Amino acid sequence: MSMTTIKIAIVPGDGIGPEIVSEAVKVLSCLRREFGLEIELEEGLIGGVAYDETGCPLPDKTLALAREADAVLLGAVGGPKWESLDIQVRPEKGLLGIRSALGLFANLRPAILYPQLADASTLKADVVSGLDILIVRELTGGIYFGQPRGVRTLETGERQGFNTLVYSESEIRRIGKVAFDIARKRGRRVCSVDKANVLECTELWREVMSEFGMRNSDVELTHMYVDNAAMQLVRAPKQFDVIVTTNMFGDILSDCAAMLTGSIGMLPSASLDQNGKGMYEPIHGSAPDIAGQGVANPLATILSVAMMLRYSLDREDLASRIEKAVRDTLDQGLRTPDIYTEKMTKVGTAQMGDAVVFALANQT
Ligand code: IPM
Ligand code: MG
Repeated sequence: MSMTTIKIAIVPGDGIGPEIVSEAVKVLSCLRREFGLEIELEEGLIGGVAYDETGCPLPDKTLALAREADAVLLGAVGGPKWESLDIQVRPEKGLLGIRSALGLFANLRPAILYPQLADASTLKADVVSGLDILIVRELTGGIYFGQPRGVRTLETGERQGFNTLVYSESEIRRIGKVAFDIARKRGRRVCSVDKANVLECTELWREVMSEFGMRNSDVELTHMYVDNAAMQLVRAPKQFDVIVTTNMFGDILSDCAAMLTGSIGMLPSASLDQNGKGMYEPIHGSAPDIAGQGVANPLATILSVAMMLRYSLDREDLASRIEKAVRDTLDQGLRTPDIYTEKMTKVGTAQMGDAVVFALANQT
């Protein structure tokens, strides 16, 4: 291996994680074989499988591997098997831990409707056709990480759960800058989503975003309350270009946006640090109900590899090739069950992955 070999950490995780990540690894291997991409892959444990093997959902070894790597590809974590564990060692803690430890504060979740899937969405085709929105979710702050948190027992003997929603001005400005920078490469419109009518923390969010917007007036900034944003996303989603929002609102709205595209199995994501180093993962979870059956849609993970090439490895050319291969595969009518509609060809996880690899390898 030469000095310039790119190191990619592969952390499949739980449930369908290993199945979908295998298909993404086939795509990476194809890039190495057909396009000379010099990469070296190394696997690590995260989530429930990591807990089972080491007693910790984010072993030091995995964290060290991720820190050393140029980029991380992650599958999914969690499942019923680990739901009754103490919250400190649950699989989800592993995921939150790696996001936080690597400083991956900016989570980009593009919701793009592939024209071939217009009929797979539960919304009317004309509402979603041409959809191309990007949710920029703050990922290392807010109520997910705020202190104090926990469950306490009151004097009355009753238990009370509590969490803290907290954002500092610098955290708001930092995610605002990411949203604005990306908007400049797209439609130059940012909608900041908050609950400023009720929560002081997001009143500050709105104030800081507004100040930032005034100093960056080449991008149009609007504000929306999160309840209205949820409604607008299903009523008229094409009104949005870039949405920037808090950790929890972004979690919820991105699931909602995913369904506009036909299936949550289609949405990739990039989680970036200050220097553009990133972790890439599908936005869907570990889907324990279909794990091990070979029917999960690998496209969100494959598209996450495209985002990795674009944002961390500076290979827009290869990112576009992967996205084209996915479009070509959909053009051939291949569909995993989640995006299947009448007259299409139903395929499993591996067949879908193989078809994308074939399309990629045979591109002119
Ligand atoms: C996501 C997931 C995670 C989150 C879970 C698995 C911890 O829902 O990436 O959207 O809430 O961030
Ligand atoms: Mg989520």
